[in-house]
Amino acid sequence: MELDDHVCHCSHVSLRKLINFASRVRPRIASRMVECLGAGTGCGWCIPILKKIAEDPDGFTSGGLDAEECASDREAYLNAGKPKNRF
Ligand code: FES
Repeated sequence: MELDDHVCHCSHVSLRKLINFASRVRPRIASRMVECLGAGTGCGWCIPILKKIAEDPDGFTSGGLDAEECASDREAYLNAGKPKNRF
């Protein structure tokens, strides 16, 4: 995943913006990540990633996921109809 790729597709928030926000704010609770342009307030798919960024913004790695894989994973999440991810 590149820094300018969107992590939150619903709110169009890039990885760069999220890392910069978390580095500056150092959120004690991951749900504060929503203050970064509303990330995580839509479908909830990105919330597990937002939690990881909040925990360690400087050491965050996408685990090898690229933008296309993220998009297809989100599509599967949306189609699965499972309960929404939560902070
Ligand atoms: S992708 Fe972030 S809330 Fe939907």
